[in-house]
Amino acid sequence: MHYRINIEAMNMLLSEQAYKKIDREVAKFPSEQKQSAVMAALAIAQDEKGWLSPELMQDIADYLGMAAIAVQEVATFYTMYCVNPVGKFKITVCTNLPCALSGGEKAAQYLKQKLGIDYREITEDGQFTLQEGECMGACGDAPVMLVNNKRMCSWMSNDKIDALLGELRAPATEGTK
Ligand code: FES
Repeated sequence: MHYRINIEAMNMLLSEQAYKKIDREVAKFPSEQKQSAVMAALAIAQDEKGWLSPELMQDIADYLGMAAIAVQEVATFYTMYCVNPVGKFKITVCTNLPCALSGGEKAAQYLKQKLGIDYREITEDGQFTLQEGECMGACGDAPVMLVNNKRMCSWMSNDKIDALLGELRAPATEGTK
């Protein structure tokens, strides 16, 4: 069931495909509880836009029939949501104590030096943002990092970091294949 009543009448901030995905999440709950899909909706929106602008959060709020402040509260509470602009690839490094003591801090320093940015900054080419993360449940695999909240990278030595950055940069430098 498609919940967008009049798509032309609203500013479409997301693709039709994204709204359909949100509809599928909404359909998992009773109709009077569609707000329960807010976390999934924010994740879908962020996947498409990279970060959650105030306008996008308002759009999600309108779509789910909830107050914008309630959506903002969710988006700002969980670290996987970005409420500020980020690069195409957001690399989150776990620097909680177990990881910090097992190379997490060193890996973060290496990344900062390689990318020429500090935490929460964007590289000049718009490709990368670096941020600190909380325990990812993989403390034995330190240093660990997460790319765009989805791809877990373990035992990240400097060589593996170089390889990761090279791989992520590759499509931008080689053009579309
Ligand atoms: Fe880093 Fe647990 S402390 S994954």
